Amino acid sequence: LMTGPVSYWVVIPAAGIGSRMRADRPKQYLPLGDRTLIEQTLDCFLGQPGLNGLVVCLAADDPWWPELACAQDRRIVRADGGQERADSVLAGLQALLARGAGMADWVLVHDAARPNLTQEDLHKLLATLADDPVGGLLAVPVRDTLKCADAQGRVASTPDRSRYWQAYTPQMFRLGALRDALTQALGAGAVVTDEASAMEYVGLAPRLVEGRSDNIKVTRPEDLQWLSRHSKPH
Ligand code: CTP
Ligand code: MG
Repeated sequence: LMTGPVSYWVVIPAAGIGSRMRADRPKQYLPLGDRTLIEQTLDCFLGQPGLNGLVVCLAADDPWWPELACAQDRRIVRADGGQERADSVLAGLQALLARGAGMADWVLVHDAARPNLTQEDLHKLLATLADDPVGGLLAVPVRDTLKCADAQGRVASTPDRSRYWQAYTPQMFRLGALRDALTQALGAGAVVTDEASAMEYVGLAPRLVEGRSDNIKVTRPEDLQWLSRHSKPH
């Protein structure tokens, strides 16, 4: 059976303030190479076969986005983000529905602050999950020995690290299923730090797809310093 490239939508949550970065602006607007971090992030998706459209979820009063060249790109729509990352993603999904996306369409959610995603990892995720009943995420097996702490900051135990992974993005799910899972989990007050945890909340088991460990999220100043020395050639 001949099939074309998997068609999908993208949601980029970018409504955070980057408090841990302690910079003069949200981290997604800091320079990385010749452009801003968010532009480097968007680059991996734009121009890919299969991309239907892309939503960036921004703070309502964001003054930086309109200054970027990609703000004029007709494939990109803007949505107002929310209080938490999950609220921003949910707003992005609603914007896709308003744009004509279908409930069964694939959506990839990818952090604005994760600029080092390679096209190889993107294609691996799409190809691995194309026929998956649930969807899944890029993730990396933990490398270091893990310690579980007690209340005094002493080691309480050493879990079996062979079963632990770090959850990365993109995370890829069907639009309607993800919207319902996020709505349920948020409504119940569950902690939802990624899309997979919302799917888990409703009883589904997202697939772990091993990705590159350098697809890091910029969180602290040293992450940006590391990326400026190591990031992929753009
Ligand atoms: N994000 C969002 N809406 C929020 C909070 C976060 O869209 N209400 C986005 C961020 O812009 C970022 C991604 O989610 O691209 C991952 O979040 P994180 O790394 O925590 O970014 P910030 O919340 O901006 O940083 P911090 O937690 O240090 O303040
Ligand atoms: Mg945050």
